[in-house]
Formats: sequence, structure tokens, C-alpha cells
Amino acid sequence: MSILITGGAGFIGSHTCVEMLNAGKDIVVIDNYANSSPKACERVKQITGKDFPYIECDIRDEEKLGEIFAGYDIEAVIHFAGLKAVGESCQKPVEYYDNNVGGTVTLLKAMKKAGVKTIIFSSSATVYGGTNPVPFKEDMPTGGTTNPYGTTKLFIEQILKDLCAADKDWSACLLRYFNPIGAHESGLIGEAPNGIPNNLMPYIAQVAVGKLKELRVFGNDYDTPDGTGVRDYIHVVDLAKGHVCACDRALKVKGCEIFNLGTGRGVSVLELIRAFENANGIKIPYVIAPRRPGDIDASFADVSKAREVLGWQTEKDAVDACRDTWNWQKNNPNGYDD
Ligand code: NAD
Ligand code: UD1
Repeated sequence: MSILITGGAGFIGSHTCVEMLNAGKDIVVIDNYANSSPKACERVKQITGKDFPYIECDIRDEEKLGEIFAGYDIEAVIHFAGLKAVGESCQKPVEYYDNNVGGTVTLLKAMKKAGVKTIIFSSSATVYGGTNPVPFKEDMPTGGTTNPYGTTKLFIEQILKDLCAADKDWSACLLRYFNPIGAHESGLIGEAPNGIPNNLMPYIAQVAVGKLKELRVFGNDYDTPDGTGVRDYIHVVDLAKGHVCACDRALKVKGCEIFNLGTGRGVSVLELIRAFENANGIKIPYVIAPRRPGDIDASFADVSKAREVLGWQTEKDAVDACRDTWNWQKNNPNGYDD
């Protein structure tokens, strides 16, 4: 039996493919390559020495999904496919709701038809909003998202909760990622954002490689030890391993369960710059700039539930992630483009 991985050519998806294959699982990948390249799947094969099918398919195409479920013996779905650019989601809200929420609903219909009732979903710490105290715990209230992207995550969480309440045969694992960074240590797969990156780590990496002049640190007057924003940066390989544990759990236990996937430690913007400089011996020029609208002071996870229930915890730190990011960036300055 195989695990279907939607969005498996993307940043987190490709690393999860590696860890699933390393754990001896069979996988089938689907992706429409809206934000990725099929080359990532070839690199996954190169890293693992294992073969798997990867198919161009949009999760909004119910007919094609039906053919894929009919053609492979799928027991569960790990669902990464989605658009994730916060700023773009404010410009194109309908596209985001259509792709992320509409796409998930179509996927769920195809799963139901095929009798596949186990799903692991990529949610985000953004669902905790701006008013909960850190560290964030799974049973804290959610809401207060500041952009359509974040709201798609809230809506999809609710849909999956409703589904599990209505039909006790379903199993849904909602994984709330904190800030994924890093790359596979081989340097063969990593994050390849289109255009100028919005997120901190890919921005630092592009400054390091000389594509961008300097980093702008968005605000140094937050209520944090050094005044810059604090986040929970999790190495993408640790995050990927969390999916192997979550998938095993969801195949055993029915109902809806929620897990934070983070390190449990907060790191400031200035600390991450220093970690990158120390790991790689490269100076990152930066200037202090105004706050970015929608940002909060601090976000980090309480990770006790994932540790106790999934038996999972992170093994890598920010220095590992900075080293691996740089190894990926310097070997692939244009991502998967030649
Ligand atoms: P990514 O863009 O690298 O991967 C998403 C993949 O989904 C891409 O390969 C894209 O081509 C594909 N895709 C998008 N729409 C599709 C559609 N309609 N049909 C088929 N494929 C489609 O992003 P990522 O960082 O790997 O994120 C994976 C998931 O995790 C996303 O759902 C994202 O919202 C969520 N997430 C990411 C972060 C983060 O910081 N990277 C944080 C929290 C949650
Ligand atoms: C952002 C999104 C969040 C999404 C996540 C992953 C916002 C408000 N939040 O989280 O919804 O789930 O990305 O895609 O966009 N920073 C700088 N300079 C930069 C970039 C970032 O100082 O050029 C700072 C930010 O102010 C923040 C920290 O670095 O304090 C991390 O930012 P980022 O990597 O964008 O992640 P989040 O804002 O946590």
C-alpha cells in the first residue's frame, strides 16, 4: 500500500518524501508544480536510491484524482498542496480560497469515493492568531488570522474537524508547523522561492549568495529580549520526520488530532543572523527597518504533545539549519532552474 503525497515536489513535501522512503514506505506524489519543479522528485530518487511515481495533477481535478486513487492502492494522504504566500493571498483572496480550501474539499470528495479516510494536513502556527501567550498549546483558542492564507488554514482545520465528527471512520492529523527552515544535508533539495523571498531564512540565504544587498530587520522594538521578532525555527528534516510519525499514528487512531511541530525554543531575528554567520563564516549585512504589518512579537511551540503522543522531537538546531541552507543555496543559486 502507498501513501499519496500532495504537493510532494515542494519544499516540505520533497523532504517528507525522503523520510517516508527512508522509513520503508511506498509513496505516490502529485503536484501541479505551481510553486515547484518535478526535478525535486528526481533529486529525492537520487538521495534515497528508491523509485516512486510522481504525477502532474491539480488537487481541484476530481476526475484525475479518481483515476489516481483507482490506479494505486492508497491507504492515507499527506496533504501539502496549497499556495502559501501571505502577501499574495491579500491580493488574490479568491484564488487562495479556491486553491487551498476548494482544492482540499475536492481531495476529500475523491478520498471518500475511493474509501481512503486518513489524512495528514499541513496547518500552521498562524492559526493561533495574535493574542495567545507563548508557548502555543494545541488546546488554545484559534482565530484572528490577519490574511487570507492563514484563514484558509483555519477553514480547512474546521472542515477536517467536522468531517471526523460526522464520520467516525475518518482520521485527520492537523500538524501546526512553526517556521520551517534548512535543507537536506546532501544539498540536493531545499527551498526555492519564486522572486524575492518573503521569509527570513531564504532572504538571508540570498543576501549570503550576493543576489540581494542587505537584509531588512523588520522592527527592533518588539517585546522580546533583543527587540526583534522571536520565532520557532524548525529544521525541515525534523519536520519531515514528524510526518512519518503522524502518518503511523493516523493509520492507527481514528478521529481528529492536532499537533504542534516546532522545537519549543524561540530564536530572534538577530540570533538567526548570528547563527548563519557563525555556521558559515559569512557576514550578513542588515539594516533595521519598520515593523512588517501583521507580525507578532513572539511565536514558539509547546511541543510536549508531539513528544508524548507521537514519540517525536527535533534533533537539529538553528546552526544545522543555517549550514544546510547555505549548502543548498550555494550549490543551487537559482533553485531548480539551470
Ligand atoms: P511549497 O510551495 O514549496 O509546496 C506546496 C506544493 O503544493 C508546491 O509544490 C505546489 O506546486 C503545490 N500545489 C499548490 N497548489 C496545488 C494544487 N492546486 N494542486 C496540486 N499541487 C499544488 O510550500 P511548502 O513550504 O512546502 O509548504 C507545504 C505546505 O505546508 C503548504 O500547505 C503550506 O501552506 C504549509 N505550511 C508551510 C509553512 C512554511 O513556512 N513553509 C508553514 C506552515 C504551513
Ligand atoms: C510568515 C507568515 C505566516 C506563514 C509563515 C510561513 C506573516 C505575517 N506570517 O511567518 O503566516 O505561515 O511565514 O510561510 O507573513 N523578518 C525580517 N526581515 C525579513 C523577513 C522576515 O526581519 O526580510 C522577520 C519577521 O519580522 C519575523 C521573522 O523574521 O519576526 C520571521 O519572519 P518569516 O520568515 O516571514 O515568518 P513569519 O512571519 O513567522
